[in-house]
Amino acid sequence: MLELNQCYNMDCMKGMAQFPDGFFDLAVVDPPYFSGPERRGYYGSKVSKIGVYRDYPVSPVWEIPGRAYFDELRRVAKHYIVWGCNYFSYEFASGRIVWDKCKKGTSFSDCELAATDLFNTVRLFRFMWNGMLQGKSVAEGHIMQGNKKLNEQRIHPTQKPVALYDWIFQNYAAPGCRVLDTHLGSGSSRIAAYEAGVDFIGFEIDPIYYAAEEQRFLDYTSQTSLFHLT
Ligand SMILES: C[S@@+](CC[C@H](N)C(=O)[O-])C[C@H]1O[C@@H](n2cnc3c(N)ncnc32)[C@H](O)[C@@H]1O
Repeated sequence: MLELNQCYNMDCMKGMAQFPDGFFDLAVVDPPYFSGPERRGYYGSKVSKIGVYRDYPVSPVWEIPGRAYFDELRRVAKHYIVWGCNYFSYEFASGRIVWDKCKKGTSFSDCELAATDLFNTVRLFRFMWNGMLQGKSVAEGHIMQGNKKLNEQRIHPTQKPVALYDWIFQNYAAPGCRVLDTHLGSGSSRIAAYEAGVDFIGFEIDPIYYAAEEQRFLDYTSQTSLFHLT
């Protein structure tokens, strides 16, 4: 059995198979919606900060999740939040979360959409995420962080801000509940889960992103424990 509060370098389908029905209270997932190499130009060039010098995407081929994945996700988790729901043909419940990235005039989407069965309305979260332009905080996400040195470091081409997951867990996950992220990427969800005091498991299939995510999490927790000591 895999352990809570650990992340694993493995295919999420193999990971989820190890859990009984309804083990997780909430799954917050962000699966790839394109298969990889043929969309090479999609991300631009490189992200470099912690030595991840490579063109994107890097995995040989990402399998776009289909019905088997979403059925399995719903088997192991009582509730779900699925980012990129507009790219998947699956009968999601009617709740939606809109993340407004507070950017205009680029060729990329202004917003991202998640489907959820937690409610049947539409909720909005605003947090600036446009290259070096990043939001200030969960409460003032539409205002630009004044000091770029305090910006969140980016280690993954489709990294979502920790603040987005902070907002999700503050609103939809009680401390001590069990949360799953099947497609960890940079591990932003893991950092927010740690802060929220929820029990967390994540999977990442790419060994290089997995290693980068592990290092990011280690750096984050060692910095915050130092902060708590001083
Ligand atoms: C859209 S990204 C997730 C980004 C993440 N939300 C973040 O904030 O950084 C999807 C990730 O899923 C990984 N992935 C693709 N197929 C996978 C699978 N079958 N199991 C686990 N991870 C997978 C990819 O390597 C990629 O890092």
